Amino acid sequence: MCGIVGYLGEKDPKEVIYKGLKTLEYRGYDSAGMAILDGEHFRRVRAQGKLNNLWAKIEKDSFSGSVGIGHTRWATHGIPNEANAHPHAVETVTIVHNGIIENYQELKAELAKTGSKFSSDTDSELVAHLIYNQMQSGQGLLEAVFEVIPRLIGAYSILAVSEDSPDEVVAFKNGPPLLVGMGENEMVVASDIQAIVPYTQTVFYLEDNEVAHIKQDSVKFMDTAGVAVKKVPEEVEWNQEQVEKGGYPYFMLKEIYEQPRAVAQAIEPHIDLKNKSVRLAGVGFGIDKYEDLSKLDRDADWQKTLSAFSQVERIFIVACGTSYYAGMVGEYLIERITGIPVEVDVASEFRYRHPVIPKNSLMIVVSQSGETADTLAALRNVKKSGAMTLSICNVSRSSIDREADGHLYMNAGVEVGVASTKAFVSTLALFNLLALSFGKAKGCLETATEQQWIEDLLGAPAQMEKVLAYDKYFDEAGNDLKEYKGFLYMGRGVNYPIALEGALKLKELAYMHAEGYAAGEMKHGPLALIDNKMAVVMMCPQDELYEKTFSNLEEARARGGMVISIGSGVDEKLKNMSEHYLSLPESRWYVNPLLEVIPLQLLAYHVAHRLGHDVDQPRNLAKSVTVE
Ligand code: M6R
Repeated sequence: MCGIVGYLGEKDPKEVIYKGLKTLEYRGYDSAGMAILDGEHFRRVRAQGKLNNLWAKIEKDSFSGSVGIGHTRWATHGIPNEANAHPHAVETVTIVHNGIIENYQELKAELAKTGSKFSSDTDSELVAHLIYNQMQSGQGLLEAVFEVIPRLIGAYSILAVSEDSPDEVVAFKNGPPLLVGMGENEMVVASDIQAIVPYTQTVFYLEDNEVAHIKQDSVKFMDTAGVAVKKVPEEVEWNQEQVEKGGYPYFMLKEIYEQPRAVAQAIEPHIDLKNKSVRLAGVGFGIDKYEDLSKLDRDADWQKTLSAFSQVERIFIVACGTSYYAGMVGEYLIERITGIPVEVDVASEFRYRHPVIPKNSLMIVVSQSGETADTLAALRNVKKSGAMTLSICNVSRSSIDREADGHLYMNAGVEVGVASTKAFVSTLALFNLLALSFGKAKGCLETATEQQWIEDLLGAPAQMEKVLAYDKYFDEAGNDLKEYKGFLYMGRGVNYPIALEGALKLKELAYMHAEGYAAGEMKHGPLALIDNKMAVVMMCPQDELYEKTFSNLEEARARGGMVISIGSGVDEKLKNMSEHYLSLPESRWYVNPLLEVIPLQLLAYHVAHRLGHDVDQPRNLAKSVTVE
């Protein structure tokens, strides 16, 4: 999720790149940098943190050249410091990169053997090494790029410049977007349209495995074998609303793409990186819960939380809609780690069913908006019973956030689309941390388990990025799906709530009938629905319930259902059983939900989009349901 801008032209490249990066900052703001031709060399300036930090460093500088590339980073490999900030330079070659080079360890080991020295921990730097090494054998920048592309496995979009041919930029991609804008004697190349439109509305969209050879007054497109590709420019129309959507046609799509960062932001305040352990910050039991986290006595605060959690003998999770499904995942996580009994309820039922709340109960209320009427009422009822309450909200100081005794923030950033997406994954991430915290408080969590868990959670955003990079497969599946009369989404264990969430997304966006079911329940009724007009979406990751889920899939298949399976890694068996097999990176059971939900959201999005529905504002719904 990084932003990229390159410029060749008569304007000041520093200004164009800075303004462009500013519009892309939502993609990442761990660090930023640019490299601009100055005399015979590309002068590189980088800064940790937001773009303003970079600007403070270069605002007063002037560069003599007319070519530059810039980047705003969201860290995947290597911590967000200046050394890891882009551009990365190796002698005369400088690059910026968005994406993940999956075989970077292999390539890095190979480069190290031949004497390459690395100055960052990123996967990106080695692309500069590979290009530079190639150029040492006398090749030009473009030729070197053609040699390097077949060596890269993963999703990437890259701009490369060289001091040997400083009047050109070579752009290439496989996965993340890259566009070339052609103006009057100037070219702007960027990851997103909004960085280009202030200068020109004539744009070429690069396809995967295409290379653009860009000069100030010309651009040539080729495939990766160097064969010319004829491309027709598109004239784009642009308005302020589109700028806010960050170039995405809908807020929902933008929010789906923001999910890796949402997860990173949700967990970041609560992880002790050094010890790879959980340390919830600012929950607020016993202290002012709005205390500024930077001023917080972290140890004292954490001890108070642990002491409060150690008293808990029963947990009630109460929420509505998507937040309720996130709560169901929470139930699986907490019970499995801690053995504390957990009940999950929809708030509209819970508030009226006179629930029995035993002593030492904790109620966890989940609400993106923090204003959902039923959830708020359920919270108020339980507070009267004297039980301890904890909220998980995205909107700070919302009613639910203010009224609960303790709180955690989703930290997902503003969610505009009515269909909840990033708030869901942030909540899943927080439930992982809560489960670990209860485990610690109850003394039933082994250090090694905790460390592995935290490592897996820290790696989850990068895995989510990989899933997003394969959106075109979800789009293809969405194209077939829109012809079906009904949908059964199924899964077992922690994947069952994800099936429910997938069905909800299709209902609310595509207005199609979809049911979520526990896969094992299929033979108790829903199997009768299956014929060749029914699509079955099966969550079938390689977990301990894999074989059982697979049998359910065979049963559905035998009745003629069209199967879309979501599994992990290379799974020929599952693939052979499915019309569409959507493969996710292999991960542990508690990370799987974070990955699985992405194809389901995108499937629903694509079906709805193809049907011409307003994805951001589905009919009859509202973002915040403040009435009963
Ligand atoms: O703001 P909340 O999380 O309390 O909202 C709960 C539901 O209204 C919400 O999740 C709803 O189901 C979404 N539209 C689902 O995408």
